[in-house]
Amino acid sequence: MSTNIDSLQHETRRFAPSSEFSANAVATAEIYGRAASDPEEFWANQSRELLQWEKPFTRTLDWDNAPFAKWFSDGRLNVAYNCLDRHVDAGHGDRVAFHWEGEPGDSRTLTYADLTAEVKKAANVLTSLGIRSGDRVAIYLPMIPEAVISMLAVARIGAVHSVIFGGFSADSIRSRVDDANARLVITADGGWRKGKVSPLKPTVDDALAKEGDHSVQNVLVVRRGENAIEWTEGRDRWWHEEMATAETEHTAEAFDAEHPLFILYTSGTTGKPKGILHTSGGYLTQTAFTHKNVFDLKAETDVFWCTADVGWITGHSYVVYGPLANGATQVLYEGTPDAPHPGRWWEVIEKYKVSIFYTAPTAIRSFMKTGRSVPDGFDLSSIRLLGSVGEPINPEAWIWYRDVIGAGTAPIVDTWWQTETGAIMVSALPGITTAKPGSAQVAMPGITVDVLTDGGAPVGNGSGGLLVVTKPWPSMLRGIWGDPERFIETYWDKFDQPGATNRRMYFAGDGARLDEDGDIWLLGRVDDVMNVSGHRLSTAEIESSLVSHPIVAEAAVVGAHDDTTGQAVVAFVILRADQEDAQTPEEANGILRSHVSEQIGAIARPRQIFVVSELPKTRSGKIMRRLLRDVAEGREVGDTTTLADTSVMQIISDKLHGTT
Ligand code: WT7
Repeated sequence: MSTNIDSLQHETRRFAPSSEFSANAVATAEIYGRAASDPEEFWANQSRELLQWEKPFTRTLDWDNAPFAKWFSDGRLNVAYNCLDRHVDAGHGDRVAFHWEGEPGDSRTLTYADLTAEVKKAANVLTSLGIRSGDRVAIYLPMIPEAVISMLAVARIGAVHSVIFGGFSADSIRSRVDDANARLVITADGGWRKGKVSPLKPTVDDALAKEGDHSVQNVLVVRRGENAIEWTEGRDRWWHEEMATAETEHTAEAFDAEHPLFILYTSGTTGKPKGILHTSGGYLTQTAFTHKNVFDLKAETDVFWCTADVGWITGHSYVVYGPLANGATQVLYEGTPDAPHPGRWWEVIEKYKVSIFYTAPTAIRSFMKTGRSVPDGFDLSSIRLLGSVGEPINPEAWIWYRDVIGAGTAPIVDTWWQTETGAIMVSALPGITTAKPGSAQVAMPGITVDVLTDGGAPVGNGSGGLLVVTKPWPSMLRGIWGDPERFIETYWDKFDQPGATNRRMYFAGDGARLDEDGDIWLLGRVDDVMNVSGHRLSTAEIESSLVSHPIVAEAAVVGAHDDTTGQAVVAFVILRADQEDAQTPEEANGILRSHVSEQIGAIARPRQIFVVSELPKTRSGKIMRRLLRDVAEGREVGDTTTLADTSVMQIISDKLHGTT
């Protein structure tokens, strides 16, 4: 292994939890030993403790038909009942479930009693529209309470939701509706985004107007944007009209632990998105367990805010299912971080006294770019714990997050997981782990991961390789909707070891390194690992080096074909606002090339650094390196339809042709 992949190792700062935090923490160190001695028994106990089963399970894990797992398979429960009624029954009906804040500043408070009442009515509406257990319902809504109410109402009647992020196009809606044969679409006229109403129902109309038959019988429309929309008589129904006449009582029926809960589409290495399938009992167990222990939840006093949209797995697991199963009080915010002003998020934290805040590194870096004066204008003293998710967090962003948002004291949990894993798999536990900026660190209690060579041998401490999960876990995906072969090929064939006791291992698609302590450092997707002159280099690592330089706000690195070295490092950087005029692109190029060379080694020095004003990102904030690779290799730029802003590539190309 080259020294390059090891260079995050040079990050030597350590942050131990304060004795006060540790003394009051939910999780205590003995939990690791307890989980390791019998992981299945550990999960069974967690499940019994955290959830209410209508029929208790007697069998914990059934792995006979690996890689198709069954957890708690003879038990029965209702997921929505576990998130709602039981908290009301336990006397917590008056506890706030959501402080909802609309982008224009309107707000709503829903207690657990309110939310339960809404979900019961919505469940009756769904039933009156002919939706039955097992039917698929597509949800295309902004971040309004009805998004959560819809998901829980679908779950309550045993139907299966497929939430489609509100930024997706008509084509994406249609392909998802078709793939799952959805009978109903729940949408809104529009939602607020960046100071104006962004229409949604017209996009659903377009999706359903496309060529060919579709499975949708009704479209249920929430009124939010009050924008003008067209109406298809017989098919379209107003949410508020249906809710006004709906029965208020609804008894939640229990379903099997393995009853499907939702499908969520995520992109794979091929063009066609994969419908990741999650089921009920195991998923709810692990989302509840991780939410409680990773975020040190004290349900009576904490205010939790996960900024993710419910259209992504993070929103499913840490806005809806985990927090509500734990009876948490949350903030739900409709809009973007910077509308109507750049301090909007910090204002929301101040207003609702958010104590636990969970967001993505890309957001943190964009706040770094605008500077600390914005958050410094708000009272963030309620914050006691910070979380990060979605991509490796570079140490500079980690330190900024802790210092500026966490007052220099809040522990940070960097949580590694995926749509497929359903819940957090690798993270520090805040009262226990001494934090290392940039490292996701340790597997959750009850989870076993390893880092392997391409040939399947453990790399051991001090080396890098491929991250695998070595044993089945409760919230694991149960398959790809309608495509069992692709499920096996994508995740299980790579490290299939016939003859081994646990022959099937889950291939995550991420590169990782184990440090001398055995802590895990994520290095990005393996498709983003470059090979330069036979040396392995991580895009994440070079990006981390670039953004650690004071003139840089954001950076993306790709491996571009090079006749001599195989691949060469090409970087795209956005300079900090106050630096844009301080040096020419040529000067910045020189400064940064030597900076990377100094930090990591000459091998990592980018061949080229392009100073740009934007980076191409998907709507979930992931940088689309594939497109940058096209630019770096002088090719025509490929498919840009999944970009949040499709004009970005044009801006980059124009700029490069002007400067190079
Ligand atoms: C991929 C999964 C999990 C919810 C959001 C993304 C990357 C995620 C981390 C982290 C380094 C991370 C991985 C993973 N990733 N969290 N803390 N450190 N990388 O879900 O869209 O399914 O993406 O996101 O590459 O494979 P997703």
